[in-house]
Amino acid sequence: MAKKRILSGMRPTGKLHLGHYTGALENWIKFQKEYDNFFLIADYHVLTTKLDTENIYQDSIDMVIDWLSAGIDPELSPIFRQSKIKQHSELNLIFSMLITANRLERNPTVKDQVRDLKIENIVFGHLGYPVLMSADILLYKGEVVPVGDDQIPHIEICREIARKFNNQYGMVFKEPEPLLTKFSRLSGLDGQQKMSKSLGNSILLADDPETVKNKLKKAVTDTQKVRKGDPGRPEICAIFTYQQKFNEPEIKEIETGCRSGQLGCFDCKMKCAAKISSFLEPILEKRAYYESKPEEVKEILNDGEKRGRAVAETTMNEVRTKMKIG
Ligand code: TRP
Repeated sequence: MAKKRILSGMRPTGKLHLGHYTGALENWIKFQKEYDNFFLIADYHVLTTKLDTENIYQDSIDMVIDWLSAGIDPELSPIFRQSKIKQHSELNLIFSMLITANRLERNPTVKDQVRDLKIENIVFGHLGYPVLMSADILLYKGEVVPVGDDQIPHIEICREIARKFNNQYGMVFKEPEPLLTKFSRLSGLDGQQKMSKSLGNSILLADDPETVKNKLKKAVTDTQKVRKGDPGRPEICAIFTYQQKFNEPEIKEIETGCRSGQLGCFDCKMKCAAKISSFLEPILEKRAYYESKPEEVKEILNDGEKRGRAVAETTMNEVRTKMKIG
């Protein structure tokens, strides 16, 4: 039986943090053999909130190095830049006719961005964020989309667009399904709900053990647990979620120790830092390798681009034929 297809992507914001890993990248790697995969560097999507493109190429490379270092195999999974495959723009234009502005204005993820970034007047392209994302997914006939939970509203719009297209022009697209991880939204070091580079509360995949330790030392825990001996509440502590993720075998002990007060925050943090760093160790090693081989990374992108474009063009031919246009 033919493998099902995964299409996913990320906006290139430079080096990735643990939230990117636990939210999506982990699933990309986990299902790599089971599915046919395409992984997209969403460089056009960056423009929705940042017009300065000075660092966009380097940020893309940094992100790809993290993908590769964490375990993406470019043979199994073509990797390419969205802006290099013009069919994305073509399908985006067509899709933009299949959804109302009103529907896009109700998108909670875009609303959150507008609030967080204090955007006074949203640009047209930002409102259309999920439309371009729908083109990304459906150009490759993506059926499964492993992403963080904030992307769910976009995928719902993608399903509506697929349905609308099929009804209007004839069956071309399946409606894709999102795929979430258990830690699809990792808390930040400041105790905020979401680890995010712009909030400055993240641990990078490229952080060395010293950096991880220093970041954890400063992390916010249960503010009512002031000193060792005070009982803590693991359920509100970001460090506890990291322990759940990276130190599962000891989790019962940690929970009991925290609640009783026997385990102090400092000791808990240092335990956690050690576990995170041992998880990151092989990633750091591979990162050093790829950083020393920029030509190899470029080759990977060139190869991915060719493979991606071939699929994109096949889909567009189908779309153009059905639409009797283009
Ligand atoms: N919106 C995604 C993010 O911010 C990136 C993205 C663009 C994407 N196109 C996609 C994800 C298509 C999945 C499928 O991370």
